[in-house]
Amino acid sequence: MSVRRLHSEQPASFAFSAENMEWAKHTIGKYPQGRQASAVIPLLMRAQEQEGWVTQPAIEYIADMLSMPYIRVLEVATFYTQFQLQPVGKKAHIQVCGTTPCQLRGAEDLIKVCKNKIAKQQFALSEDGNFSWEEVECAGACVNAPMVQIFKDTYEDLTPQILEDLIAKIERGEEIMPGTQQPGRIHSAPAGGAVTLSDPSLYDGSMVRYGLGASMDQETASCDLGAKASDAASEKKSATKAKPASKAKTTKPKSKAAAPVVEEKALEETAPALLDGPSGGVADDLKQISGVGPVIEGKLNAMGVYHFAQVAAWTEENCAFVDSKLSFKGRIAREKWIEQAKILAGGGDTDFSKRVEAGEVASSKGKEE
Ligand code: FES
Repeated sequence: MSVRRLHSEQPASFAFSAENMEWAKHTIGKYPQGRQASAVIPLLMRAQEQEGWVTQPAIEYIADMLSMPYIRVLEVATFYTQFQLQPVGKKAHIQVCGTTPCQLRGAEDLIKVCKNKIAKQQFALSEDGNFSWEEVECAGACVNAPMVQIFKDTYEDLTPQILEDLIAKIERGEEIMPGTQQPGRIHSAPAGGAVTLSDPSLYDGSMVRYGLGASMDQETASCDLGAKASDAASEKKSATKAKPASKAKTTKPKSKAAAPVVEEKALEETAPALLDGPSGGVADDLKQISGVGPVIEGKLNAMGVYHFAQVAAWTEENCAFVDSKLSFKGRIAREKWIEQAKILAGGGDTDFSKRVEAGEVASSKGKEE
């Protein structure tokens, strides 16, 4: 950080041009009575634009206009590095950010360019008086480091060659475009394109189950344990009891091949296979699934779920349907109902089902959960 103090050589006086005076009065008028000092920064900037730098007479002139002590305006002028306290290059004063992010990205090489092309010392004018430079602290464009500021604009993603080219264009009077100088980069967007948060399902609501759509791939969905489960399940407890599909209340779960565009499905179309009553008149004891007590079992039965094999065959979509209909709030996946149901439908036992059968789980005896 440079020491900021008034230049040793100062002009005799300062006054706004007629146009700038009119603008200054209008600007001061924007602030409430008694708050005119708030206009100090825009007025200092206007004085700099008029003179090329902020002089001591300008500071005193503006302080008088705003009824401020000179020291208060001096404090502002010496604090902000956008105020130049000495004469600067007529065509450009280049402020090179030398703070850590820019330094790590090559700011020192940019300073070398300034030393070679403009002047060995910062604040010194080039031989023709057209350029000057200084090192400043972070200018707030770190994501596009390294960068320089030239008057009001920033020029970012620089290399030494690009900075040399910019200086040459300014010298020739050519227009230069502020912002990133890296071809193909848009403002501060990731250089080379986005590499994170690129999954469209992050934005269609399916992750939080908004609306009817769910774009999660069935093959990768954690809750999709597959219709295959029903094959093993059908051998033991329940499959022989299930009604033919044509008599089921609602549609059977779609196969993977038949459901490629999940987003367009209505919620009702994602219902699992449901029954009008237990197959063979005997329902499985769904309370053997940890997390299913008598209340939830009643809800499942009322919906048309009576057998472990039905639960074992639920897909991701089916889980979402049952979750939303019965307000289970994700407990199907959280409590691993499907994994349990697969074991139970295949004739096996789980630690929990053993405890239920041994009468050690109170809720399985009909107590409210
Ligand atoms: S560190 Fe250079 S702009 Fe922030």
